[in-house]
Amino acid sequence: MGFATDAIHAGQEADPLTGAVSVPIYQTSTYVQEALGSHKGFEYARTQNPTRSALEKNLATLESGAIAHCFASGMSAITTLLLLLSKGDHVVVSENTYGGTYRLFEKVLRGFGLDFSYVDASDVARVEEALRPETRLVFLEIPTNPVMTIADLKGVAALTRERGIRLAVDNTFMSPYFIRPIEFGADFVVHSTTKYLNGHSDSIGGVVISRDAEDAERIGFLQNAVGAILSPFDSWLVMRGIKTLAVRMEQHDRNGRVVAQFLTEHPRIERVHYPGLPSHPQFERAKELFSGFGGMISFETGSLAAARALLDNVRLCALAESLGGVETLISHPASMTHASVPQEQRTRLGITDGLVRISVGIEDVDDILADLDRAFQCL
Ligand SMILES: Cc1ncc(COP(=O)(O)O)c(C=O)c1O
Repeated sequence: MGFATDAIHAGQEADPLTGAVSVPIYQTSTYVQEALGSHKGFEYARTQNPTRSALEKNLATLESGAIAHCFASGMSAITTLLLLLSKGDHVVVSENTYGGTYRLFEKVLRGFGLDFSYVDASDVARVEEALRPETRLVFLEIPTNPVMTIADLKGVAALTRERGIRLAVDNTFMSPYFIRPIEFGADFVVHSTTKYLNGHSDSIGGVVISRDAEDAERIGFLQNAVGAILSPFDSWLVMRGIKTLAVRMEQHDRNGRVVAQFLTEHPRIERVHYPGLPSHPQFERAKELFSGFGGMISFETGSLAAARALLDNVRLCALAESLGGVETLISHPASMTHASVPQEQRTRLGITDGLVRISVGIEDVDDILADLDRAFQCL
């Protein structure tokens, strides 16, 4: 089936009891057993819940994976994935990941004996140089957050396959509508479903999709053992969001291109990071990997004062953390999403005090442009 059809139908069989077309919210913690050892495949809702299973089947199909497991947040999905590793293992990470991922790796998991190296994964040679005999995982964010660097996914996938190292991709920014990393050789895809998949800024969640059933079995074991599961209600919200993923992503992409062009031409803006601009250093790669460029843009205003003036004066664009909602969200990475990355490292990565990130929503694009234009006049 086509993507939009799968988004609406995969895993969404009518309810066997009533025929309800919307998968019911099975708000239960446990299930009655007919006799000792005899049940309908459901014992306890941390382990199995039909609403969550329907979403997991849907996401496995959309990301071309074997099996998906949903979690209470993007961070708990990433944490559970990392629990595949053991003390002494090493991970190579694309530099410039979401600040919360960096915080988890550096301030939590390092304390449990894992080691992390951060490299510019747009160059596969940098990834190769960082590999060690104890490297077990390469973790890429595509594009990186917030400066939109695009990893050499094909090159890194060939390298990890050859060396027997697992490859995980955080696909939160593009969604499976624009790229399915497993089709390029990734072993795992993770998402913060909080973002484009849910799409309506009203749920926190995460998912790990595994290419291979054996890896998925281990993730399923960890999901149950650790217990950071997505609730039935949130599972239902994300399913409902995904039904319109295709049309939403088309509009995010359409609006994103217009806003990126507007920012490029604006005299107050020094630099625009958007994979759909010919000035993007990996523009050719973006065209090859993605079927659209989406709605995530960051841009350089030149100073903290200019960024603050812009953010204080927008009205339609909401000053807020997060991204991927139907509404346009605007933020200041250095003090918000990436505050846990040390200042010196932020500067090296281009996360300056003047950098602003915008998640372009699906409003009328002229209204977004008018709001930005009015706010720029206050600089
Ligand atoms: C790329 C990326 N990955 C993971 C996360 C973490 O997701 P959550 O906030 O759902 O825990 C975020 C959150 O902003 C993100 O932007």
